[in-house]
Amino acid sequence: MSSPGPAKIPQHVAIIMDGNGRWAKARGLPRLEGHRRGVETVRTVVDAAREIGIRYITLYAFSAENWKRPADEVSGLMGLLDYFLKRELDNLIKNRVRLLTIGRAEALPANVQRELNRVIEATKDFQEWTLVLALNYGSRTEVADAARAYAAAVQAGAEKLADASWENFNRYLYTGAAGIPEPDLLIRTSGEQRVSNFLLLQCAYAEMVFTSVLWPDFGKADLQAAVDEYGRRERRYGLTTEQIKSGPA
Ligand code: FPP
Repeated sequence: MSSPGPAKIPQHVAIIMDGNGRWAKARGLPRLEGHRRGVETVRTVVDAAREIGIRYITLYAFSAENWKRPADEVSGLMGLLDYFLKRELDNLIKNRVRLLTIGRAEALPANVQRELNRVIEATKDFQEWTLVLALNYGSRTEVADAARAYAAAVQAGAEKLADASWENFNRYLYTGAAGIPEPDLLIRTSGEQRVSNFLLLQCAYAEMVFTSVLWPDFGKADLQAAVDEYGRRERRYGLTTEQIKSGPA
């Protein structure tokens, strides 16, 4: 009998954490209670990702569109972010996890920016594990920001228009600029099957796993199940199965 071979572990997993509101509603609790439970899941999942061997984990914590939610929910989410950063600093240092953000962080409340900068600075030398928080993030604003930066580089003579290519443009995306690799696996919880303006270009070849589990209920076993599902998929990048099996040309 042939052995199953080593398990395929995705290097980068991106997660759309959805279902906090429904989790709370089902229990007759305020929406913010769902987000509060969602923060507990964040710690569980970051720890689990490390145990599984996932080097990068990106969490869609606040989208560029989330500002349109009721003011008390927005301020509640900002409060939770501040609380999370204060509480997790020691844990991230202990586990040698680097924190990065993607998105327009400059629009976040000053206290949240201060905490973010503190944690980013304290963890910046860790290389093995990376937690990326997508904050005030949207793919379309990311593309607009990258296009502006690329055009400015062309104007300044640092880039040539004739060299415009995906590889060169990619370096101006938030992820490319920070050296974050493309996600191998995108997970969305709560049964919704949408990408919602999250890492649209970077997920061009990502495997997608949609689970009906609500984010506050998501745990290590659910993450492992998604990783197992990823391991069963064949990533072809436009090639045929035969080409993949015969190895690089
Ligand atoms: C989606 O659930 C979740 C969000 C918009 C926010 C996610 C935020 C957290 C998990 C807490 C803060 C994060 C960190 C990293 C501290 P939803 O409210 O859209 O749920 P629903 O679709 O059931 O209403």
